Amino acid sequence: MSTEQSGEVRTEADRLEDLAHRPPAFSPALDTGHGTILYLEDVTVTFDGFRALNGLSLYIDDGELRCIIGPNGAGKTTMMDVITGRTRPDSGTVFFGQRIDLLRQREHEIAQEGIGRKFQKPTVFEELSVFENLELAMAADKRPWVTLFARLTAAQRERIHEVLTLIRLTDQRRRLAGALSHGQKQWLEIGMLLMQNPRLLLVDEPVAGMTGEETERTAELLVSLAGAHSVVVVEHDMAFVRSIARRVTVLHQGAVLAEGSMDQIQRDRRVIEVYLGD
Ligand SMILES: Nc1ncnc2c1ncn2[C@@H]1O[C@H](COP(=O)(O)OP(=O)(O)OP(=O)(O)O)[C@@H](O)[C@H]1O
Ligand SMILES: [Mg+2]
Repeated sequence: MSTEQSGEVRTEADRLEDLAHRPPAFSPALDTGHGTILYLEDVTVTFDGFRALNGLSLYIDDGELRCIIGPNGAGKTTMMDVITGRTRPDSGTVFFGQRIDLLRQREHEIAQEGIGRKFQKPTVFEELSVFENLELAMAADKRPWVTLFARLTAAQRERIHEVLTLIRLTDQRRRLAGALSHGQKQWLEIGMLLMQNPRLLLVDEPVAGMTGEETERTAELLVSLAGAHSVVVVEHDMAFVRSIARRVTVLHQGAVLAEGSMDQIQRDRRVIEVYLGD
């Protein structure tokens, strides 16, 4: 990481905080008047008769950082598939803000409404630089030969540098993405999502395969994004969850088993039984 100037009173963390909380430049009009950005109500998904989601109801506040935990097969990834339009539920309602019915939208429309999803496996363009990856992520026209030869405006360039700072890859910006560590690729992918200024970010198992230090940095990054963005994090790494947790939801057999602070969750008998037991 770059050395901070001596005499600088504000810490690196303060600076990251400022960047993360700058309002998105072009966020879509979204009515979160009641403080809730995402509503899932009584959502059921069946695969060949098996209920992957079974009457799931979940409410995410605007600006909230929510952790979702639960045993393998609980329906966590399926829930994200429903929110992003990948999987259509058999029944239930899913709203983004007060007015946007996500079940009436296609996958790319949902992304355009401001819901960004990070998959487990990074999908960065390995043969392009870190900077170019961010540039491409910002572009409306995704064809690399169009984007990479177009001139960036000063504002676009500034936004890329802001995101580079947030994901702490400023020093790596000219490197090929393929040469980054696993953790750095994951951050780059989060950065690519941020270039679209999503209101809601869905992140599935972000620290799987990361070193301890990368995991800590990822925790700081996700915490810094909350507020300006709503962030839903699915993760099995309990030390990581504890380090970022505000409200935690436990899924089990396709429905909410428990919800509360990490302390409440860890003391919950049913949660211990199905998930935290050993
Ligand atoms: N496309 C599919 N077809 C059939 N069954 C599926 C499909 N997708 C998921 N399932 C099943 O639905 C259940 C929920 O899966 P899901 O991937 O949502 O669980 P998860 O909570 O994300 O688990 P993990 O912690 O292992 O990632 C599992 O039993 C899974 O096998
Ligand atoms: Mg999963």
